[in-house]
Amino acid sequence: MEQKKTVVLGVTGGIAAYKTASLASMLVKSGLDVQVLMTNNAANFINPIVFETLTGHKCLIDTFDRNFEFKVEHVALAKLADVVMIAPATANVIGKLANGIADDMLTTTVMACRKCRKIVAPAMNTEMYLNQVVQDNIKKLEEYGFEIIRPAKGYLACGDVGPGKMPDPEALYEYIYREIAFDKDLTGKKVLVTAGPTQEAIDPVRYITNHSSGKMGYALARVCAARGAKVVLVTGPTSLPKPMFAKIVQVTTAKEMFEAVKKEAKDADIVCKAAAVADYRPKNVSSEKIKKADGQMSLELEKTDDILMYLGRHKHPGQFLCGFAMETENLTGNSRAKLEKKNLDMIAANSLRDEGAGFQKDTNRITLITKKDETPLPLLSKEETAVRIIDKILAEISDRK
Ligand code: CTP
Repeated sequence: MEQKKTVVLGVTGGIAAYKTASLASMLVKSGLDVQVLMTNNAANFINPIVFETLTGHKCLIDTFDRNFEFKVEHVALAKLADVVMIAPATANVIGKLANGIADDMLTTTVMACRKCRKIVAPAMNTEMYLNQVVQDNIKKLEEYGFEIIRPAKGYLACGDVGPGKMPDPEALYEYIYREIAFDKDLTGKKVLVTAGPTQEAIDPVRYITNHSSGKMGYALARVCAARGAKVVLVTGPTSLPKPMFAKIVQVTTAKEMFEAVKKEAKDADIVCKAAAVADYRPKNVSSEKIKKADGQMSLELEKTDDILMYLGRHKHPGQFLCGFAMETENLTGNSRAKLEKKNLDMIAANSLRDEGAGFQKDTNRITLITKKDETPLPLLSKEETAVRIIDKILAEISDRK
């Protein structure tokens, strides 16, 4: 995430306030400046020292508190904020914000904050949350341009089960990431990403697959959504958390991936085919478990459809097609051959022989190959690699004009 942006975190008096400490920690670790404002009631649930220790800033509570580092009063924080998040937001504070009441540091700051996005995560008892007055106030906030994160359903601290639970800090983090991590240079574009392995059944118990973790494709989907794209992620089976702001199409086999991709590629502006699709599948799938017998056994395999080849043949004008190649030898030669054969605009080539690159890893070292050039990237996290892939695709698209 870009350095030095400021997140103003408003914490109000609900038990979920303890989760906001984890959120503050994640944001600080991402290199962001985090300023925490608390209501008096919030300070009954969590000690301000927790936030002060995590953020390195004084946690402001009273309207007449001063943040001595900045020598400013309440409006200054509003000016500094790139995004404001109130989590948890109680019925009381939601009511105040919706009706123009500013009687403490948090509400005065939010009132003074007109230029940046304000995100509110209501968290309270189910009956309170479903109360029409609260619902009306939430609607009002939406009309005033606040973004509301709907509470999750679950077991609440009061013992009730229902809506009112604050989403996990990881989910709240994603809203902030989407808001401030990137310029929205993919707005108006649909990006189709495929990720993960496919599984091809042998019998009801066994299948053929590969080592793909899906990390590269998931990073691409997440970064593209944060850059403003409409993202569809067609994914084979993985254990990764799903990117929050993408449409997810879950598939298992190469055939299912082919069908999903054919449908979604029709109006896609950019396609990134990061999935490791099986090239072959068992010709006959046994409906019963295959029993062990004496001697050898062999499986007859048949070819799957080459999805990328199909996309290259049916590419519509203006569509940008990016393939991926995983090689163990002659990286650029083999990858360039795939670029030509499959009619791609770019191929992201990585060598399984490279330290830090390839399956399951959090890092990657790839070379971006187009018809006219080759751009070797250094060893980067998969997220940074995704950013560079998209930067290059946007540069290529703008060169066409
Ligand atoms: N691919 C695909 N459909 C397949 C096989 C591969 O869409 N049935 C795509 C992958 O998603 C990837 C690219 O083709 O973007 C290259 O995959 P790779 O396995 O490296 O190449 P193959 O064309 O399968 O060639 P080979 O396995 O012989 O290296």
